[in-house]
Amino acid sequence: MSRIIVVSNRTPGKGPAAGGLAVALRKTLAEREGFWFGWSGKLVDTPATDVRFEDIDGLSVAQIDLTRDDHHAYYAGFSNSILWPSFHLRLDLATIEAHWYEGYRRVNQQFAHALLPLLKADDIIWVHDYHLIPLASELRNLGARNRIGFYLHIPFPTSDALYAIPHHQELMRDLSRYDLVGMQALRDVAAFTEFAEHQAPATLSGSPLQAIDFGRTEVDAFPIGSDPDAFARLATSPAANKMVKRMELALHGQQLILGVDRLDYSKGLPQRVEAYEKLLANDPRFRRQVHMLQVAPPSRDTIKEYQATSDALDAICGRVMGRFAEPDWQPLTYVKRAYGQPSLAGLYRLARVGLVTPLRDGMNLVAHEYVGAQDPEDPGVLVLSRFAGAAEIFEDAILVNPFDTDETAEALRMALDMPRDERIARWQGLMAAARNHNVEDWSKSFLERLAPASARGTATRDI
Ligand code: G6P
Repeated sequence: MSRIIVVSNRTPGKGPAAGGLAVALRKTLAEREGFWFGWSGKLVDTPATDVRFEDIDGLSVAQIDLTRDDHHAYYAGFSNSILWPSFHLRLDLATIEAHWYEGYRRVNQQFAHALLPLLKADDIIWVHDYHLIPLASELRNLGARNRIGFYLHIPFPTSDALYAIPHHQELMRDLSRYDLVGMQALRDVAAFTEFAEHQAPATLSGSPLQAIDFGRTEVDAFPIGSDPDAFARLATSPAANKMVKRMELALHGQQLILGVDRLDYSKGLPQRVEAYEKLLANDPRFRRQVHMLQVAPPSRDTIKEYQATSDALDAICGRVMGRFAEPDWQPLTYVKRAYGQPSLAGLYRLARVGLVTPLRDGMNLVAHEYVGAQDPEDPGVLVLSRFAGAAEIFEDAILVNPFDTDETAEALRMALDMPRDERIARWQGLMAAARNHNVEDWSKSFLERLAPASARGTATRDI
Protein backbone atom coordinates (compact mmCIF):
# COMPACT_ATOMS: atom_id res chain seq x y z
CA MET A 1 0.00 0.00 0.00
CA SER A 2 1.24 3.51 -0.81
CA ARG A 3 2.42 5.75 1.98
CA ILE A 4 0.30 8.76 2.93
CA ILE A 5 2.04 12.12 3.37
CA VAL A 6 -0.04 14.81 5.06
CA VAL A 7 1.01 18.43 4.62
CA SER A 8 -0.33 21.44 6.54
CA ASN A 9 0.93 24.77 7.81
CA ARG A 10 0.86 23.70 11.45
CA THR A 11 1.75 20.15 12.43
CA PRO A 12 -0.03 18.39 15.30
CA GLY A 13 1.17 19.14 18.81
CA LYS A 14 1.87 16.85 21.71
CA GLY A 15 -0.59 15.65 24.31
CA PRO A 16 -4.35 15.39 24.74
CA ALA A 17 -5.01 18.80 23.14
CA ALA A 18 -4.20 17.31 19.71
CA GLY A 19 -7.04 18.04 17.27
CA GLY A 20 -9.46 15.48 15.85
CA LEU A 21 -7.69 15.51 12.50
CA ALA A 22 -4.41 14.37 14.06
CA VAL A 23 -6.14 11.71 16.12
CA ALA A 24 -7.97 10.40 13.04
CA LEU A 25 -4.90 10.33 10.84
CA ARG A 26 -2.42 8.97 13.39
CA LYS A 27 -3.52 5.37 12.84
CA THR A 28 -3.60 5.65 9.04
CA LEU A 29 -0.18 7.28 8.96
CA ALA A 30 1.33 4.66 11.28
CA GLU A 31 -0.18 1.75 9.28
CA ARG A 32 0.97 3.20 5.96
CA GLU A 33 4.37 4.40 7.15
CA GLY A 34 3.56 7.96 6.22
CA PHE A 35 4.43 11.20 7.91
CA TRP A 36 3.08 14.68 8.52
CA PHE A 37 5.00 17.58 7.00
CA GLY A 38 4.78 21.27 7.92
CA TRP A 39 6.23 24.35 9.54
CA SER A 40 8.11 23.78 12.80
CA GLY A 41 6.70 26.88 14.51
CA LYS A 42 10.26 28.26 14.56
CA LEU A 43 11.27 31.52 12.88
CA VAL A 44 14.86 32.01 11.70
CA ASP A 45 16.81 34.82 10.07
CA THR A 46 18.19 32.99 7.04
CA PRO A 47 16.38 30.41 4.88
CA ALA A 48 16.82 26.88 6.22
CA THR A 49 16.66 23.77 4.06
CA ASP A 50 16.98 20.96 6.57
CA VAL A 51 13.98 18.85 7.56
CA ARG A 52 13.77 17.52 11.11
CA PHE A 53 11.84 14.35 11.87
CA GLU A 54 10.27 13.89 15.28
CA ASP A 55 8.04 11.26 16.81
CA ILE A 56 5.05 13.00 18.42
CA ASP A 57 2.95 10.51 20.40
CA GLY A 58 3.56 7.82 17.75
CA LEU A 59 3.05 10.17 14.81
CA SER A 60 6.02 10.79 12.52
CA VAL A 61 6.30 14.55 11.94
CA ALA A 62 8.74 16.29 9.57
CA GLN A 63 9.24 20.02 10.01
CA ILE A 64 11.05 22.94 8.43
CA ASP A 65 11.81 26.41 9.80
CA LEU A 66 10.75 29.57 7.97
CA THR A 67 12.36 32.98 7.91
CA ARG A 68 10.62 35.73 9.84
CA ASP A 69 9.99 37.80 6.69
CA ASP A 70 8.69 34.92 4.58
CA HIS A 71 6.44 33.74 7.36
CA HIS A 72 4.99 37.20 7.84
CA ALA A 73 4.18 37.61 4.13
CA TYR A 74 2.84 34.07 3.81
CA TYR A 75 0.89 33.65 7.07
CA ALA A 76 -0.22 37.01 8.53
CA GLY A 77 -0.09 38.58 5.05
CA PHE A 78 -1.39 36.63 2.07
CA SER A 79 -3.04 33.74 3.93
CA ASN A 80 -4.74 35.59 6.76
CA SER A 81 -5.14 39.18 5.55
CA ILE A 82 -6.18 38.34 1.97
CA LEU A 83 -7.34 34.74 1.55
CA TRP A 84 -9.04 34.29 4.94
CA PRO A 85 -11.23 37.45 4.79
CA SER A 86 -12.03 36.97 1.08
CA PHE A 87 -12.96 33.32 1.45
CA HIS A 88 -15.20 34.35 4.38
CA LEU A 89 -16.76 37.09 2.21
CA ARG A 90 -15.30 39.91 4.34
CA LEU A 91 -13.60 41.91 1.61
CA ASP A 92 -14.04 44.97 3.82
CA LEU A 93 -11.55 43.40 6.24
CA ALA A 94 -8.97 42.38 3.64
CA THR A 95 -5.67 44.27 3.40
CA ILE A 96 -3.82 43.90 0.15
CA GLU A 97 -0.06 44.33 -0.02
CA ALA A 98 1.25 43.22 -3.39
CA HIS A 99 4.55 41.77 -2.14
CA TRP A 100 2.85 39.28 0.20
CA TYR A 101 2.05 37.05 -2.75
CA GLU A 102 5.77 36.54 -3.46
CA GLY A 103 6.33 35.43 0.14
CA TYR A 104 3.32 33.10 -0.08
CA ARG A 105 4.70 31.46 -3.23
CA ARG A 106 8.24 31.36 -1.81
CA VAL A 107 7.08 29.41 1.23
CA ASN A 108 5.13 27.00 -0.96
CA GLN A 109 8.27 26.56 -3.10
CA GLN A 110 10.32 25.96 0.04
CA PHE A 111 7.83 23.33 1.21
CA ALA A 112 8.03 21.64 -2.22
CA HIS A 113 11.85 21.67 -2.33
CA ALA A 114 12.09 20.23 1.18
CA LEU A 115 9.39 17.61 0.60
CA LEU A 116 10.42 16.33 -2.83
CA PRO A 117 13.57 14.42 -1.76
CA LEU A 118 11.52 12.64 0.92
CA LEU A 119 8.96 11.30 -1.57
CA LYS A 120 8.64 7.84 -3.12
CA ALA A 121 7.05 7.55 -6.57
CA ASP A 122 3.80 6.04 -5.32
CA ASP A 123 3.32 8.19 -2.19
CA ILE A 124 -0.09 9.80 -1.91
CA ILE A 125 0.08 13.41 -0.77
CA TRP A 126 -2.73 15.12 1.10
CA VAL A 127 -2.39 18.91 1.40
CA HIS A 128 -4.52 20.87 3.88
CA ASP A 129 -5.92 24.36 3.70
CA TYR A 130 -5.57 27.75 2.11
CA HIS A 131 -1.97 28.38 3.15
CA LEU A 132 -0.81 25.75 0.67
CA ILE A 133 -2.95 26.11 -2.47
CA PRO A 134 0.13 26.32 -4.79
CA LEU A 135 1.90 23.28 -3.32
CA ALA A 136 0.82 20.76 -6.00
CA SER A 137 1.96 23.14 -8.77
CA GLU A 138 5.30 23.64 -7.08
CA LEU A 139 5.78 19.90 -6.59
CA ARG A 140 4.74 19.14 -10.18
CA ASN A 141 7.10 21.85 -11.47
CA LEU A 142 9.87 19.91 -9.74
CA GLY A 143 8.75 16.69 -11.44
CA ALA A 144 6.47 15.03 -8.85
CA ARG A 145 3.93 12.75 -10.53
CA ASN A 146 2.28 11.50 -7.35
CA ARG A 147 -1.44 11.58 -6.66
CA ILE A 148 -1.98 14.85 -4.78
CA GLY A 149 -5.17 15.88 -3.01
CA PHE A 150 -6.15 19.19 -1.44
CA TYR A 151 -8.68 19.76 1.32
CA LEU A 152 -10.04 23.24 2.01
CA HIS A 153 -11.12 23.56 5.65
CA ILE A 154 -12.68 26.99 5.15
CA PRO A 155 -15.55 28.03 2.85
CA PHE A 156 -14.91 28.51 -0.87
CA PRO A 157 -15.76 32.09 -1.95
CA THR A 158 -18.37 33.22 -4.40
CA SER A 159 -16.90 34.28 -7.76
CA ASP A 160 -16.97 38.03 -7.14
CA ALA A 161 -15.09 37.65 -3.85
CA LEU A 162 -12.62 35.42 -5.65
CA TYR A 163 -12.00 38.08 -8.32
CA ALA A 164 -10.99 40.50 -5.58
CA ILE A 165 -8.02 38.29 -4.64
CA PRO A 166 -4.78 39.24 -6.34
CA HIS A 167 -3.49 36.41 -8.57
CA HIS A 168 -6.72 34.46 -8.22
CA GLN A 169 -6.30 33.07 -11.75
CA GLU A 170 -2.97 31.56 -10.78
CA LEU A 171 -4.45 30.19 -7.57
CA MET A 172 -7.28 28.55 -9.47
CA ARG A 173 -4.77 27.13 -11.94
CA ASP A 174 -2.90 25.79 -8.90
CA LEU A 175 -6.06 24.02 -7.77
CA SER A 176 -6.39 22.46 -11.23
CA ARG A 177 -3.07 20.68 -10.65
CA TYR A 178 -4.49 18.54 -7.85
CA ASP A 179 -6.10 15.20 -8.59
CA LEU A 180 -8.77 15.72 -5.96
CA VAL A 181 -10.05 18.90 -4.28
CA GLY A 182 -12.23 18.35 -1.21
CA MET A 183 -14.54 20.97 0.27
CA GLN A 184 -16.59 21.09 3.44
CA ALA A 185 -20.06 21.66 2.04
CA LEU A 186 -22.17 21.45 -1.10
CA ARG A 187 -22.40 25.23 -1.04
CA ASP A 188 -18.59 25.34 -1.54
CA VAL A 189 -18.64 22.86 -4.41
CA ALA A 190 -21.40 24.93 -6.04
CA ALA A 191 -19.27 28.10 -5.74
CA PHE A 192 -16.26 26.32 -7.20
CA THR A 193 -18.30 24.87 -10.07
CA GLU A 194 -19.77 28.30 -10.77
CA PHE A 195 -16.23 29.63 -11.23
CA ALA A 196 -15.02 26.63 -13.22
CA GLU A 197 -17.97 26.72 -15.61
CA HIS A 198 -18.27 30.47 -16.09
CA GLN A 199 -14.73 31.69 -15.78
CA ALA A 200 -14.52 35.43 -15.48
CA PRO A 201 -14.31 37.71 -18.47
CA ALA A 202 -11.15 39.83 -18.52
CA THR A 203 -13.01 42.87 -17.18
CA LEU A 204 -13.91 41.05 -13.99
CA SER A 205 -10.86 38.92 -13.53
CA GLY A 206 -8.46 41.79 -14.14
CA SER A 207 -6.31 39.72 -16.45
CA PRO A 208 -6.64 38.28 -19.95
CA LEU A 209 -8.88 35.27 -19.98
CA GLN A 210 -7.02 32.00 -20.22
CA ALA A 211 -9.48 29.24 -19.58
CA ILE A 212 -8.34 26.91 -16.83
CA ASP A 213 -8.75 23.24 -17.59
CA PHE A 214 -10.12 21.44 -14.54
CA GLY A 215 -10.36 18.19 -16.50
CA ARG A 216 -7.88 16.27 -14.35
CA THR A 217 -9.33 17.49 -11.07
CA GLU A 218 -12.18 15.86 -9.24
CA VAL A 219 -14.00 18.22 -6.85
CA ASP A 220 -16.44 17.06 -4.19
CA ALA A 221 -17.81 17.77 -0.73
CA PHE A 222 -16.31 15.77 2.13
CA PRO A 223 -17.86 17.30 5.28
CA ILE A 224 -15.42 16.84 8.15
CA GLY A 225 -16.61 15.64 11.56
CA SER A 226 -15.39 14.78 15.03
CA ASP A 227 -15.40 11.60 17.12
CA PRO A 228 -18.66 12.23 19.01
CA ASP A 229 -18.47 9.06 21.08
CA ALA A 230 -14.96 9.91 22.25
CA PHE A 231 -16.31 13.33 23.20
CA ALA A 232 -19.13 11.68 25.15
CA ARG A 233 -16.55 9.70 27.14
CA LEU A 234 -14.37 12.75 27.66
CA ALA A 235 -17.34 14.77 28.94
CA THR A 236 -17.84 12.39 31.86
CA SER A 237 -14.13 11.83 32.58
CA PRO A 238 -12.64 12.93 35.93
CA ALA A 239 -10.79 15.80 34.22
CA ALA A 240 -14.07 17.13 32.79
CA ASN A 241 -15.86 16.64 36.10
CA LYS A 242 -13.41 18.93 37.83
CA MET A 243 -14.48 21.79 35.57
CA VAL A 244 -18.16 20.80 35.81
CA LYS A 245 -18.05 20.96 39.63
CA ARG A 246 -16.43 24.40 39.61
CA MET A 247 -18.92 25.72 37.11
CA GLU A 248 -21.95 24.24 38.86
CA LEU A 249 -20.94 26.02 42.05
CA ALA A 250 -20.70 29.31 40.17
CA LEU A 251 -24.03 28.83 38.37
CA HIS A 252 -26.26 28.36 41.45
CA GLY A 253 -28.81 26.54 39.27
CA GLN A 254 -28.83 29.09 36.43
CA GLN A 255 -28.99 27.69 32.91
CA LEU A 256 -25.75 27.99 30.97
CA ILE A 257 -25.52 29.38 27.44
CA LEU A 258 -22.09 28.54 26.04
CA GLY A 259 -19.99 29.80 23.13
CA VAL A 260 -16.49 28.50 22.34
CA ASP A 261 -14.63 30.08 19.43
CA ARG A 262 -11.26 31.38 18.36
CA LEU A 263 -11.40 35.16 18.66
CA ASP A 264 -12.03 35.71 14.96
CA TYR A 265 -14.31 38.15 13.15
CA SER A 266 -15.82 35.26 11.18
CA LYS A 267 -17.32 33.85 14.38
CA GLY A 268 -19.92 36.61 14.85
CA LEU A 269 -19.08 37.19 18.51
CA PRO A 270 -20.35 40.77 18.97
CA GLN A 271 -23.61 39.85 17.17
CA ARG A 272 -23.99 36.85 19.47
CA VAL A 273 -23.64 38.93 22.63
CA GLU A 274 -26.07 41.45 21.18
CA ALA A 275 -28.62 38.66 20.66
CA TYR A 276 -28.18 37.66 24.30
CA GLU A 277 -28.65 41.29 25.32
CA LYS A 278 -31.95 41.33 23.39
CA LEU A 279 -33.07 38.15 25.14
CA LEU A 280 -32.50 39.76 28.55
CA ALA A 281 -34.12 43.01 27.43
CA ASN A 282 -37.19 41.41 25.83
CA ASP A 283 -37.82 38.71 28.38
CA PRO A 284 -36.98 39.85 31.93
CA ARG A 285 -37.90 36.44 33.37
CA PHE A 286 -34.51 35.15 32.17
CA ARG A 287 -32.55 37.66 34.25
CA ARG A 288 -30.89 35.88 37.19
CA GLN A 289 -31.98 32.56 35.61
CA VAL A 290 -29.39 32.25 32.85
CA HIS A 291 -25.69 32.87 32.42
CA MET A 292 -23.71 33.17 29.22
CA LEU A 293 -20.10 31.95 29.08
CA GLN A 294 -18.05 32.88 26.05
CA VAL A 295 -14.64 31.21 25.76
CA ALA A 296 -12.60 33.02 23.10
CA PRO A 297 -8.89 32.21 22.92
CA PRO A 298 -6.96 34.95 21.08
CA SER A 299 -5.95 34.18 17.52
CA ARG A 300 -3.72 35.87 14.90
CA ASP A 301 -3.50 38.84 17.22
CA THR A 302 -0.78 40.66 15.29
CA ILE A 303 -3.39 41.44 12.62
CA LYS A 304 -5.27 44.67 13.28
CA GLU A 305 -8.71 43.34 12.26
CA TYR A 306 -8.39 40.72 14.97
CA GLN A 307 -7.49 43.38 17.54
CA ALA A 308 -10.55 45.36 16.44
CA THR A 309 -12.78 42.29 16.92
CA SER A 310 -11.34 41.81 20.37
CA ASP A 311 -12.06 45.48 21.20
CA ALA A 312 -15.60 45.22 19.83
CA LEU A 313 -16.25 42.19 21.99
CA ASP A 314 -14.84 43.93 25.08
CA ALA A 315 -17.15 46.86 24.41
CA ILE A 316 -20.34 44.89 23.98
CA CYS A 317 -19.65 42.57 26.93
CA GLY A 318 -19.03 45.67 29.06
CA ARG A 319 -22.28 47.20 27.85
CA VAL A 320 -24.31 44.10 28.71
CA MET A 321 -22.67 43.90 32.13
CA GLY A 322 -23.37 47.55 32.86
CA ARG A 323 -26.93 47.24 31.68
CA PHE A 324 -27.99 44.03 33.40
CA ALA A 325 -25.51 43.02 36.11
CA GLU A 326 -26.52 43.41 39.74
CA PRO A 327 -24.28 43.32 42.78
CA ASP A 328 -25.12 39.65 43.22
CA TRP A 329 -25.70 38.56 39.60
CA GLN A 330 -23.64 38.73 36.44
CA PRO A 331 -25.25 38.02 33.07
CA LEU A 332 -22.08 36.82 31.39
CA THR A 333 -18.51 35.68 31.72
CA TYR A 334 -16.05 36.20 28.94
CA VAL A 335 -12.63 34.53 28.97
CA LYS A 336 -9.91 35.17 26.41
CA ARG A 337 -8.02 31.99 27.13
CA ALA A 338 -7.76 28.50 25.69
CA TYR A 339 -8.99 25.50 27.72
CA GLY A 340 -8.05 21.86 27.21
CA GLN A 341 -10.45 19.43 25.55
CA PRO A 342 -11.53 17.75 28.82
CA SER A 343 -12.57 21.05 30.42
CA LEU A 344 -14.41 22.09 27.27
CA ALA A 345 -16.16 18.73 27.04
CA GLY A 346 -17.39 19.19 30.63
CA LEU A 347 -18.64 22.70 29.88
CA TYR A 348 -20.43 21.51 26.74
CA ARG A 349 -22.25 18.86 28.74
CA LEU A 350 -23.30 21.35 31.36
CA ALA A 351 -24.59 23.93 28.88
CA ARG A 352 -28.33 24.02 28.21
CA VAL A 353 -27.59 25.92 25.00
CA GLY A 354 -24.61 25.55 22.64
CA LEU A 355 -24.49 28.86 20.80
CA VAL A 356 -22.57 28.41 17.53
CA THR A 357 -23.30 31.43 15.35
CA PRO A 358 -20.42 32.17 12.95
CA LEU A 359 -21.15 34.62 10.13
CA ARG A 360 -19.54 32.09 7.80
CA ASP A 361 -17.61 28.94 8.64
CA GLY A 362 -16.18 25.96 6.77
CA MET A 363 -17.74 23.34 9.06
CA ASN A 364 -17.46 24.32 12.76
CA LEU A 365 -16.40 21.41 14.88
CA VAL A 366 -17.55 23.03 18.13
CA ALA A 367 -21.08 22.17 16.96
CA HIS A 368 -20.06 18.51 16.55
CA GLU A 369 -18.28 18.38 19.90
CA TYR A 370 -21.19 20.04 21.72
CA VAL A 371 -23.54 17.36 20.36
CA GLY A 372 -21.14 14.55 21.31
CA ALA A 373 -20.79 15.79 24.90
CA GLN A 374 -24.51 15.91 25.78
CA ASP A 375 -26.23 13.79 28.42
CA PRO A 376 -28.66 11.58 26.42
CA GLU A 377 -31.22 11.81 29.26
CA ASP A 378 -31.13 15.57 29.55
CA PRO A 379 -29.40 17.09 26.51
CA GLY A 380 -28.94 20.74 25.66
CA VAL A 381 -30.00 22.50 22.46
CA LEU A 382 -27.74 23.50 19.59
CA VAL A 383 -28.40 26.99 18.18
CA LEU A 384 -26.50 27.03 14.91
CA SER A 385 -25.74 29.52 12.16
CA ARG A 386 -27.17 28.73 8.73
CA PHE A 387 -23.82 29.86 7.33
CA ALA A 388 -21.71 27.19 9.02
CA GLY A 389 -21.04 24.08 6.91
CA ALA A 390 -22.46 22.15 9.88
CA ALA A 391 -25.93 23.50 9.01
CA GLU A 392 -26.00 21.13 6.01
CA ILE A 393 -25.75 18.22 8.44
CA PHE A 394 -27.50 19.27 11.64
CA GLU A 395 -31.13 19.66 10.63
CA ASP A 396 -32.27 19.21 14.23
CA ALA A 397 -30.46 22.29 15.48
CA ILE A 398 -32.31 25.60 15.74
CA LEU A 399 -30.89 27.30 12.66
CA VAL A 400 -30.45 31.07 12.72
CA ASN A 401 -29.24 33.91 10.56
CA PRO A 402 -26.45 35.26 12.80
CA PHE A 403 -26.74 38.74 11.28
CA ASP A 404 -30.32 38.91 12.55
CA THR A 405 -29.89 39.30 16.29
CA ASP A 406 -33.67 39.35 16.88
CA GLU A 407 -33.89 35.92 15.30
CA THR A 408 -30.99 34.63 17.41
CA ALA A 409 -32.56 36.08 20.57
CA GLU A 410 -35.80 34.26 19.74
CA ALA A 411 -33.86 31.02 19.11
CA LEU A 412 -32.26 31.41 22.55
CA ARG A 413 -35.69 31.83 24.11
CA MET A 414 -36.98 28.73 22.32
CA ALA A 415 -33.95 26.71 23.37
CA LEU A 416 -34.23 27.77 27.03
CA ASP A 417 -37.97 27.01 27.11
CA MET A 418 -37.75 23.74 25.17
CA PRO A 419 -39.31 20.77 26.98
CA ARG A 420 -37.09 17.79 27.71
CA ASP A 421 -38.88 15.46 25.24
CA GLU A 422 -38.20 17.78 22.36
CA ARG A 423 -34.60 18.29 23.47
CA ILE A 424 -34.08 14.53 23.52
CA ALA A 425 -35.70 14.02 20.11
CA ARG A 426 -33.64 16.77 18.53
CA TRP A 427 -30.43 15.59 20.17
CA GLN A 428 -30.96 12.02 18.93
CA GLY A 429 -31.16 13.37 15.38
CA LEU A 430 -28.06 15.50 15.92
CA MET A 431 -26.06 12.64 17.43
CA ALA A 432 -26.98 10.31 14.57
CA ALA A 433 -25.78 12.98 12.12
CA ALA A 434 -22.54 13.52 14.08
CA ARG A 435 -21.88 9.75 14.08
CA ASN A 436 -22.61 9.60 10.35
CA HIS A 437 -19.96 12.22 9.73
CA ASN A 438 -17.21 11.09 12.05
CA VAL A 439 -13.67 12.18 11.32
CA GLU A 440 -12.28 8.70 10.73
CA ASP A 441 -14.79 7.96 7.95
CA TRP A 442 -14.09 11.41 6.56
CA SER A 443 -10.36 10.76 6.17
CA LYS A 444 -10.98 7.25 4.83
CA SER A 445 -13.39 8.45 2.17
CA PHE A 446 -11.06 11.25 1.04
CA LEU A 447 -8.08 8.91 0.84
CA GLU A 448 -10.04 6.20 -0.95
CA ARG A 449 -11.08 8.70 -3.59
CA LEU A 450 -7.52 10.00 -3.89
CA ALA A 451 -6.03 6.52 -4.35
CA PRO A 452 -4.91 5.73 -7.91
CA ALA A 453 -7.62 4.30 -10.17
CA SER A 454 -5.85 0.89 -10.12
CA ALA A 455 -6.21 0.74 -6.33
CA ARG A 456 -9.87 1.72 -6.55
CA GLY A 457 -10.72 -1.12 -8.91
CA THR A 458 -11.70 1.21 -11.72
CA ALA A 459 -9.87 1.76 -14.97
CA THR A 460 -11.22 5.22 -15.75
CA ARG A 461 -10.37 8.57 -14.27
CA ASP A 462 -13.27 10.42 -12.65
CA ILE A 463 -13.77 13.90 -13.99
C1 G6P B 1 -8.88 27.40 10.92
C2 G6P B 1 -8.07 26.99 9.72
C3 G6P B 1 -6.87 26.15 10.12
C4 G6P B 1 -6.08 26.87 11.19
C5 G6P B 1 -6.98 27.19 12.39
C6 G6P B 1 -6.24 27.96 13.49
O1 G6P B 1 -9.53 26.31 11.46
O2 G6P B 1 -8.88 26.28 8.80
O3 G6P B 1 -6.03 25.91 9.00
O4 G6P B 1 -4.96 26.10 11.60
O5 G6P B 1 -8.05 27.99 11.92
O6 G6P B 1 -5.67 29.13 12.97
P1 G6P B 1 -4.13 29.44 13.03
O7 G6P B 1 -3.94 30.63 12.17
O8 G6P B 1 -3.85 29.70 14.48
O9 G6P B 1 -3.39 28.22 12.52
